[in-house]
Amino acid sequence: MKALVVEDDPGARRALAELLVELGHEPAEVGSVADALASLEGDPPDVAIVDLGLPDGDGLEVVRAAPGATAVLVLTGQGSVRNAVEAMKAGAHDFLVKPLRLPQLRAALDLLDGRGARPPVGASRGGVDALGELLGGSPPMKEVLRLLARVAPSDAPVFLWGESGTGKEVAARTLHSLSRRAAGPFVGVNCGAISPNLVESELFGHEKGAFTGAERRREGTFELARRGTLFLDEVTEMPLEMQVKLLRVLETKSFRRVGGTEERDVDVRVVASTNRDVLEAVASGVLREDLYYRLAVFPLRLPPLRERLADVPVLALEFLRRVEAEEGRGIRDIEPEALAHLGRHAWPGNVRELRNAIHRAYVLSDPPAISGEAAEAVLAAPAPSLPGGASGEALAVPVRVGDTARVAERKLLEATLAAVGGDKRAAAEMLGLSLKTVYNKLRSRDVS
Ligand SMILES: Nc1ncnc2c1ncn2[C@@H]1O[C@H](COP(=O)(O)OP(=O)(O)OP(=O)(O)O)[C@@H](O)[C@H]1O
Ligand SMILES: [Mg+2]
Repeated sequence: MKALVVEDDPGARRALAELLVELGHEPAEVGSVADALASLEGDPPDVAIVDLGLPDGDGLEVVRAAPGATAVLVLTGQGSVRNAVEAMKAGAHDFLVKPLRLPQLRAALDLLDGRGARPPVGASRGGVDALGELLGGSPPMKEVLRLLARVAPSDAPVFLWGESGTGKEVAARTLHSLSRRAAGPFVGVNCGAISPNLVESELFGHEKGAFTGAERRREGTFELARRGTLFLDEVTEMPLEMQVKLLRVLETKSFRRVGGTEERDVDVRVVASTNRDVLEAVASGVLREDLYYRLAVFPLRLPPLRERLADVPVLALEFLRRVEAEEGRGIRDIEPEALAHLGRHAWPGNVRELRNAIHRAYVLSDPPAISGEAAEAVLAAPAPSLPGGASGEALAVPVRVGDTARVAERKLLEATLAAVGGDKRAAAEMLGLSLKTVYNKLRSRDVS
């Protein structure tokens, strides 16, 4: 391929050009935005590899100016992942983290080779935007789907964050199914649900006799997810000393079973998630910053449902279709009045709450449609819906020494609200607070 290297540091530029030659490509080299723009005119290269920090301007200008025939890969340092995300939004195809190594570069270029087809965003389902199981036609969700589709084929770690019930797990599965690892396993591990002294063995496995109770050799999730995707759910709940170990494993790309001596290669794509505000988790020291940067090469926020109410009808109809497929009572539609009620609700439990609401409204309705009355009744008296599905494990809130009182209180408030389906009055009662206090606390959360 014809390649253009845009990098101001001559040493790095040379090194990159040499890697490209080694891979059989023909690189041209420039060191400034102006020269890059000139090179893109006329006979544009197949690929441009662009450093974002250039002496005479911002590499993003080059990303924006690149013609459709040129795929752009941006170069980014460890600490500047935000810029990488900006670049992807501006139309870059992928990004490469410095220091750049040959296998990384080869993988990125191989992917480009196979790009005739841009990512299958908006694979239309009756005019609705969808990616895998993930639905959403609202502008914020379209953006999420676009970025997911774009990052899915690369091996870049993705960090999903968003409130409980916003679809982080579906997003993680979607990433897997669109990745090069789709034929491999998807293994999820809830870091908040494992007792702290078992986390290491859960992730890395153990040898027989490694500790009291280790009666047999056991593979950890890093082994089970080999050639596939490892979903580190609620990663912010992982004990800090374990975060150090995880970081080391991700950096060295190898690990040992507990009590073992053999070094094993890491061959997983890591997707992490949290339902906390991730920047606050870093700021308050709950999540190590170095681990965050390692995991969040590509951070992606799933917006709460109240910020994308335009998705409500689409999701409601999809959940109705699923209930009807199971129960077959002949209820296939939703009365406009019912939709209006759904569209006015604040959805503190997000998409999960909507799914549950549709199920209950289905039960209360008669064919052929979910009635306004049923929707109103369901929303007026939300049934307790447990975050994390029916398991109930999320009914305990993990609070650790080192959490601030504010964080601890907020976790409890959110978990209680989720457990009562967002009913603030019921939550206030449970917490022994006045309704007004609950409102105030929620409001102070919004501005923080
Ligand atoms: N965009 C979406 N399209 C279709 N279904 C969705 C979407 N978002 C969420 N869901 C559904 O809503 C429910 C909750 O989603 P999911 O479990 O992914 O949430 P989560 O963000 O992981 O929540 P938690 O933080 O509580 O674990 C699931 O049944 C999921 O299938
Ligand atoms: Mg989840």
